[in-house]
Amino acid sequence: MRERSPWIRKSFLRHLHPPRIDPRGGRILYTLCLGGAATVLFLILVLTGGALLFHYRPTTAEAHASLYDLSRVVPYGWWIRNLHYWGGQAMVLFVLLHMARVVLTGAFAPPRRFNWVVGCALLSLTLITDFTGYLLRWDRDMVWAATVVAELLQRVPGFGGGLYSFLTGSEGLGDTALLRFYVLHCVLLPSMMAVLMAYHFWRVRKDGGISSPL
Ligand code: HEM
Repeated sequence: MRERSPWIRKSFLRHLHPPRIDPRGGRILYTLCLGGAATVLFLILVLTGGALLFHYRPTTAEAHASLYDLSRVVPYGWWIRNLHYWGGQAMVLFVLLHMARVVLTGAFAPPRRFNWVVGCALLSLTLITDFTGYLLRWDRDMVWAATVVAELLQRVPGFGGGLYSFLTGSEGLGDTALLRFYVLHCVLLPSMMAVLMAYHFWRVRKDGGISSPL
């Protein structure tokens, strides 16, 4: 396995950067670079999110105060926080626009059907990550939003109760719930997105490169 790994690594990179592509699919006005823009926004969110981790305190007593300090005390804290907040909104918008581009150009048709499904999973993860980010503000509005969602979840037949106790530690909306939203938003969801994105990009190549106009 050891002697094969450099080969696998090189072929994966070569797979991502093929020597030839269909010129029609590579035109900026065709993809509008929307998928690429969503990727860049994801990277900006990871970097600014990493910076916020140094100051954010995931407890119900300190969460809101630590964000207040970030915006008013920490040097450039307001800038990083705004870049993260608006980057998140922009990513949701660009993923939806990318999806619209895929629909309008018929790029979901075979052989790209499975990549469409992967894309739908990426869209869901993007929306859930955005929502859990909101919850980390832990101000009055967010506690209300979390209460509504938690109550709704609890009523989902079959797995609702289990999901509720997983998210809240069966203690209702308190420190355990905030900590779990924090781990979801900062670790689990972004990691899942990174893995799915890598597969998404690999799949684009595997499906013969970017589709060409209908
Ligand atoms: C985090 C979210 C996403 C990222 C970062 C992303 C990224 C990309 C990139 C870079 C490409 C190649 C070129 C381009 O079209 O820009 C692409 C292609 C594609 N994406 Fe996404 N995407 C995301 C979400 C989605 C969603 C939500 C869907 C649909 C539900 C989707 C379906 C597709 C399909 C079918 C292709 C192949 C398009 C073609 O060959 O013309 N993607 N994606």
